[in-house]
Amino acid sequence: MSNFKYRKDEMYAEDVALSRIAEVAGTPVYVYSAGELTESYTRFSSALATAGLNARVCFAMKANSNIAVIRTLSDLGAGADVVSGGELERALAAGVSGSAIVFSGVGKTPGEMRQAISASIGQFNVESVPELEMLSYVATSMGANVDIAIRVNPDVDANTHHKISTGRQEDKFGVDIARAGEIYARAATLPGIAPVSVAVHIGSQLTDIAPFRAAFARVAELVTELRAAGHNIHKLDLGGGLGIDYGGHTPPPVEDYAALVSETVGDLGCELIFEPGRYLAGPAGVLITQVIYVKEAEVRRFAIVDAAMNDLIRPALYDAIHRIETVRRPVTDTLIHDWDVVGPVCEAGDTFAKGCPLPPLAEGELLVMRDAGAYGAVMSSVYNSRALVAEVLVHRDSFTIVRARQEPAVFMGYENLADWQH
Ligand code: LLP
Repeated sequence: MSNFKYRKDEMYAEDVALSRIAEVAGTPVYVYSAGELTESYTRFSSALATAGLNARVCFAMKANSNIAVIRTLSDLGAGADVVSGGELERALAAGVSGSAIVFSGVGKTPGEMRQAISASIGQFNVESVPELEMLSYVATSMGANVDIAIRVNPDVDANTHHKISTGRQEDKFGVDIARAGEIYARAATLPGIAPVSVAVHIGSQLTDIAPFRAAFARVAELVTELRAAGHNIHKLDLGGGLGIDYGGHTPPPVEDYAALVSETVGDLGCELIFEPGRYLAGPAGVLITQVIYVKEAEVRRFAIVDAAMNDLIRPALYDAIHRIETVRRPVTDTLIHDWDVVGPVCEAGDTFAKGCPLPPLAEGELLVMRDAGAYGAVMSSVYNSRALVAEVLVHRDSFTIVRARQEPAVFMGYENLADWQH
């Protein structure tokens, strides 16, 4: 059940009216529900426990790296999946312990490796032979021995948007699973690293469970082969990817996902790591925006809002759909099915929705874009020199601005004229 619901005449986040948040924090603003984060986390981890799996959930921080969001999840027991030194810093600042952090990504720099080794992180997911060699070199130079997984590419099509598909042979991620044996053999000869784990992640927003089954079955075969070759594989990182319902495709229930994990890799006796991002954070956030103008053109009816593609880029980048509703409870038979909701940025791609069913709108009307808690604020920018969007976290009847709106004066403060221009 969503924590963003109509109560009386308007939509609430938990026990706080969204109009009140807009009044205090201004718009556009992301609003997250701590209750919703808690429910998603609990649903995910309970499904794994019920399936009898020995699992650790490391939230994929790329989906939402606000430190108040990370703290909410880490208080529930979540670790973190990080992909940069910056995310590592945030995870530690939010109170995640080093041992509960995994470091993913195709291009870790030696500096980031050092930073992660100093933080005693739990595992590196290594994606290439040169990276393996560099990590061995850095770890040895620090007198450390680090646990690693090799991320394998199982050549499985996740049947998702091509820009977020990662497990096909042509994708840049991981090493070809057919070459894994040879690469583990190489890893075993290198000092400073202990190849104890296998990692896989085939893509994001999967609404079909079959690709997970194919990928995990291949990983299970690989573990058996690696063990036969003498490697002590006792951990598996199964990545993230479980989709959410944006109002179109219905993803499989998490219980089916957990059952499938149990069927494919449950007998291997491995400690399992999961890296869900969208599943935990997506439905826990909305973006509130305000209508600036209503423009009735010859063929279309536009609601021009104060959020833009720089605040939420998913529709422009992936043709993603985020359901749009009014904050004010609509009188149901007044829905007009032809609103185009667009932002003020000077690009045709700055369009949130076309032909959207909304009631008659006037200037000043507050709208809500749903399921924006994942890959929303984290992908925001200051394009068009627009302020960096603010974020609010709600818990029952309280709310806090957990990222202040960054006004242009702040980022202009990092710019200056060239020496010869003074
Ligand atoms: N683990 C790894 C190694 C990943 O690359 C990702 C996402 C995840 C876990 C988390 O996946 P999730 O559970 O959130 O599906 N910006 C895009 C999504 C990019 C996903 C990148 N990797 C979007 O807005 O749809």
